[in-house]
Amino acid sequence: MTNKRWTISLICMFFLFLYVLIHFVISTQRIEKTVEQLRQTARPSSSQPHFVLISQEFDNPYWRKIARGAKDAAKYYHINVEYIGPLRTSIDEQIKLLEKAIASRVDGIIVQSLNDSRFTPFINKAMDEHIPVITIDTDAPMSRRLSYVGTNNFAAGQLLGETVVSRAVGKKKIGVIIGSDASESQQLRLQGFKSVIERHPSFKIAAVASSNISRTQASIQAEIMLRAHPDISVMVGTSALDAVGILMATKNLHRDDIQIFGFDDVEETLQAIQQGKIAATVVQKPYDMGFSAVELMVEYLSGKNINKEHFTDTKVVDKTNVWMEGDR
Ligand code: BGC
Repeated sequence: MTNKRWTISLICMFFLFLYVLIHFVISTQRIEKTVEQLRQTARPSSSQPHFVLISQEFDNPYWRKIARGAKDAAKYYHINVEYIGPLRTSIDEQIKLLEKAIASRVDGIIVQSLNDSRFTPFINKAMDEHIPVITIDTDAPMSRRLSYVGTNNFAAGQLLGETVVSRAVGKKKIGVIIGSDASESQQLRLQGFKSVIERHPSFKIAAVASSNISRTQASIQAEIMLRAHPDISVMVGTSALDAVGILMATKNLHRDDIQIFGFDDVEETLQAIQQGKIAATVVQKPYDMGFSAVELMVEYLSGKNINKEHFTDTKVVDKTNVWMEGDR
């Protein structure tokens, strides 16, 4: 009897052991599968190089296009691009973001340098710490950055000047709104513009003011200028939102006789060209800037030599070709 009980208990224990063993094997397999799945999802972001793109103003439509180009290149080359920038343009904020990117040891930095003397020490610091830097849209030529990607801004200013002198006839006083006093790209555009106007004695620049790249400020400054110089008959803007700001001012003052020339192809500028309210605009290639900057950084990291300057195209858009403008 006792033997029989023992045998039954042994059999029970054996089945219990078998149950625990099978359960153990199944859960181990399940855990291994989950870990593998987690590894798979974590792999792309952790092993992909991480670049940071720092803009002048996060939500500016011109910078959104640069970011779109950079993101498309990132997808193509299987890397990670983080797009950041101050909510409103601010050199201090932009420099803080640059410092943060250096501290977090990203694999590459693409940054607009608003002002050579303020940005150069930080760009050089990044390069010293083996974090490659490419400047975009506005250069820091005194720094040790790898390359500059963007418009040749002096030549673009000249193109704006030639566009004005070929389309505005007779004696003309010109009012100029630039994006920023601090920005070297804006200063270069202004110099290029002046160099053409100075060769044409019937044209004269009456005043220059800054919009701080804001459409509202462009409108306010243009209104002040037009009240102070009622003989101005041509207004030009050298950053993306200036021409639409100037248009607001001329509407407020009922001055539809003013000829307006601008920069870039934000939607409202193109619409105003179609409606004959803006005469022409010098269009840059922000999408190409973003794409090329990422592409060049990838090439550099793979050991290729890259050129110190990579100029993107500009062209004039007016009523005759505005319909050809796509979304780039
Ligand atoms: C300039 C940028 C600027 C933007 C502002 C563009 O024309 O190239 O430097 O940030 O306008 O709207």
